Amino acid sequence: MINIALPKGRLGEKVYRMFEKAGYGCPEILENSRKLIFESETFGIRYFWVKPSDVAIYVERGAADIGVAGKDIICEYKPDVYELLDLKTGKCRMVVAALKGYEYNDDRTLRVATKFSSIAREYYDSIGKDIDIIHLNGSIELAPILGLSDVIVDIVETGTTLKENNLEVLETIMPISARLIANKAGFKFKSESIKSLVSSLSAQIGDMS
Ligand code: PRP
Repeated sequence: MINIALPKGRLGEKVYRMFEKAGYGCPEILENSRKLIFESETFGIRYFWVKPSDVAIYVERGAADIGVAGKDIICEYKPDVYELLDLKTGKCRMVVAALKGYEYNDDRTLRVATKFSSIAREYYDSIGKDIDIIHLNGSIELAPILGLSDVIVDIVETGTTLKENNLEVLETIMPISARLIANKAGFKFKSESIKSLVSSLSAQIGDMS
């Protein structure tokens, strides 16, 4: 059995479709239920839905052999896993954004609101700017509007959230997409079956692009 952690939600469904097209279908998974684990004995796989930001933990600790996590989560938590494949889906970017017209003021420490404290810290270290991190868990866009922070470091996909809140991108930190990751020991013990899954998925991605 290959144990596969999929991120619950919109990205997870897209990713599951890729696995299905690659020949690892388990249709029951798309039925609207509260069930979290789905198994296909025929294909020797077991899927489970986990919170997107938890996929890396399941994989790093070996509860899952492989999983799908955004590059943002991988960069933020730096799990000790193998990154096997860029799935070229779930594309977005990590940016610095602020209220329209905002300009950096070097006289005071920059206040940065974010869910991605470590990415923000590394980015501002790399450009030699001292910052004060304000760690939030969601609705980051509110912070500059209410004067809680000067800028935010967050994910932008369509740009709608920024636009509707009168914010704009100041800098792009990195592009993001979904990655297939593997537990290091699991990859060793199940290398044959994981490699054949990876090659079927790669063929899929080749067809898509
Ligand atoms: C993410 C991100 C932005 C939004 C960007 O939030 O933090 O708020 O999506 O998408 P857009 O560019 O397409 O508008 P999410 O929906 O994960 O909710 P959150 O506020 O709880 O972080």
